[in-house]
Amino acid sequence: MNAQLQMTPLDARVASFIRKPRQVLIDGQWVAAKSGKTFEVYDPSTGAEIARVAACEKADVDAAVAAARRAFDSGPWARMSPSQRGRIIWKIGDLILQNLEELAQLESLDNGKPIGVARAADVPLAADLFHYMAGWATKLEGNTIGLSVPYTPDAQYHAFTRREPIGVVAQIIPWNFPLLMAAWKLGPALTTGCTVVLKVAEETPLSGLRLAELCQEAGLPPGVLNVLTGFGETCGAPLAAHPQVDKVAFTGSTEVGKLIVKAASNDLKKVTLELGGKSPNIVLDDADLDLAIAGAANAIFFNHGQCCCAGSRLFAEESIYDEVVAGVAEHAKGIKVGSGLDPQTEMGPLVSTEQLDRVCGFLDSGQAEGAETVVGGRRVGDTGYFVEPTVLAGTNPQMKVEAEEIFGPVVTVKPFKSTDELLPSANQSNYGLAAGVWTNDIKKAHRTAAELKAGTVWINCYNVFDAAMPFGGYKESGWGREMGEEALELYTEVKAVCAQI
Ligand code: NAI
Ligand code: MG
Repeated sequence: MNAQLQMTPLDARVASFIRKPRQVLIDGQWVAAKSGKTFEVYDPSTGAEIARVAACEKADVDAAVAAARRAFDSGPWARMSPSQRGRIIWKIGDLILQNLEELAQLESLDNGKPIGVARAADVPLAADLFHYMAGWATKLEGNTIGLSVPYTPDAQYHAFTRREPIGVVAQIIPWNFPLLMAAWKLGPALTTGCTVVLKVAEETPLSGLRLAELCQEAGLPPGVLNVLTGFGETCGAPLAAHPQVDKVAFTGSTEVGKLIVKAASNDLKKVTLELGGKSPNIVLDDADLDLAIAGAANAIFFNHGQCCCAGSRLFAEESIYDEVVAGVAEHAKGIKVGSGLDPQTEMGPLVSTEQLDRVCGFLDSGQAEGAETVVGGRRVGDTGYFVEPTVLAGTNPQMKVEAEEIFGPVVTVKPFKSTDELLPSANQSNYGLAAGVWTNDIKKAHRTAAELKAGTVWINCYNVFDAAMPFGGYKESGWGREMGEEALELYTEVKAVCAQI
């Protein structure tokens, strides 16, 4: 790995964006943290400091929530026509596309992901989410309801429901898809007329701050979107517990998700959670194996395994097990690991030293507990946070590597004899975010999909996302859904209006 060789030259706008300490957006103004504190942002491929951002704490949270509250209670946002709101949201999507290269470079620099992936997936998907949601602004409708009230047999009623914005929403997002996670959260909140305080992840604050500038340029009124940078305990926690917040939407670890629920329980705020996963990916013996093997490798190694839906438990039917293991191992060996800004790179670094230590800790525990390393298993080099794509065999559900979310490029692989034997093992997890099935038998495909306890099941594909398709988890993978019509419902209250006529 020679990360310095052929880097994508930094766009002048990116260079100037990271040169000066970045402020945060509160009530339409860019301001420093009230304490004046800042913290460093690192390039995960070198560990070098690339930027500084404001270290927001409770006082900044208070100011941002107050601004969002004012904007919701008395500003134009919730009162403007749905068409006007939709046009502003559509324009955010347009501006993301107009600034695609700049956003892709910021994302690659900050998160470490390959620049080609940021250009082809993260940024266009974020734009598409706003475009998709913009169309819903004019289509949020209630129902008219015929009543049969038994104790007023002669009365006539006109009863209907209204969908109203839930209010001020606190949104807390992680670092694995910084821009896209911001889009998934902001799209439905803005479309329904809510106002927002968004806390971006401390590891990757840059693209969210740039997105906030684009939202201003698109015409969002002051206070509708407030964006804070800061740490979980000092900025995220007071935001999640704030009494003026009506709903908290969180994506991140299951551990913090449970803290969010506790923080919200004081005043019973609405909560949606998109948490971890340990998703089964199942290859049946009649599958197109070239497709399935490449798909299984992509399911775990995409985004360096830092996907909540990563296909981290691979199951292959006994007769094809050896071929599948060998094939995925071959893919793993062929992956070019390097800096995200090197256009040749297929897999970048993990996001931080914490994640590097966490993933290496899992690799050590796998070895100590007797897992067989088919390929990979080690850190790459000693600069940056790189880990080898890894395939582990001979694991069991008691081993940490099979039971817990690793959030790195590490897959466990197991044989199975029949789908009857397989399904209990595939579903044996506290998580239930996603699953994959590879087969050419349409009956088996759909029967298996129906039996899997997961919020998304991909058949003969993996990691396919669309703004129109809901995403979220069963069990400890979370509450509620993102994207699609389902997400909008979770940002509205339903009001029943009953008039006697
Ligand atoms: P995390 O859950 O600590 O961080 C995610 C977000 O929550 C960040 O913005 C963070 O500042 C904030 N946060 C942290 N503590 C908080 C608190 N007490 N109150 C309010 N907000 C808080 O996740 P972390 O530490 O970055 O990663 C740890 C593990 O979590 C990963 O190894 C992975 O297993 C999982 N994870 C899952 C993600 C997903 O997409 N579902 C994304 C990121 C991490
Ligand atoms: Mg954490």
